[in-house]
Amino acid sequence: MKTGERLAILIGPKGRGSNMRALVEATQNGAISADLHGVVSPLADSPAAQWVEENGLPLFVAAPGDDYGARLSEALQGATIVALAGFTRLLPTEVLHAFPNRILNIHPALLPKFGGKGMYGAHVHKAVIEAGESESGCTVHIVTERYDEGPIVLQASCPVLPDDTPETLATRVLKLEHQTFPQAVEKVLRE
Ligand code: GRF
Repeated sequence: MKTGERLAILIGPKGRGSNMRALVEATQNGAISADLHGVVSPLADSPAAQWVEENGLPLFVAAPGDDYGARLSEALQGATIVALAGFTRLLPTEVLHAFPNRILNIHPALLPKFGGKGMYGAHVHKAVIEAGESESGCTVHIVTERYDEGPIVLQASCPVLPDDTPETLATRVLKLEHQTFPQAVEKVLRE
């Protein structure tokens, strides 16, 4: 069903792009009722960006630097909803203002705990284990001008096991992320 909605996915320079692939797939199988606007990457030749091109999907390259806000806004022209998948920077204000309540980020823990600047990747899972939590998970939230602080759209949880390392916990959480992110995007589209 055509809804007129168009999803843009922003990735970072180092990401594996696994959430990006889960979102792309969800636009293709109808789990997300939006067409894919494209993927915006700071690098043209990262493995994730190459995957986008190899699959014949629209790739926009916009790297931080002079006029980043304007270049990013141009790449997002025509999109109606934006998902940050492994994108770790704060967004330029003009981009935030162009998509009110329509920019979503996924974080690999149960916010508001274990979020904020510097809390990404293994740092998050290490902190969760060191705090002795029995549960972790992922959070999809609306992006604001501060790290990991916008309203929560959806959370999903999983156990932290006694012998978990940051790596084993990351693997469990990532699986959950791939299910939760598309569900959260669809939830916002239906609001
Ligand atoms: C995920 O763990 C996500 O929660 C965080 O960055 C990671 C990106 O992984 N924001 P991938 O590139 O989607 O595999």
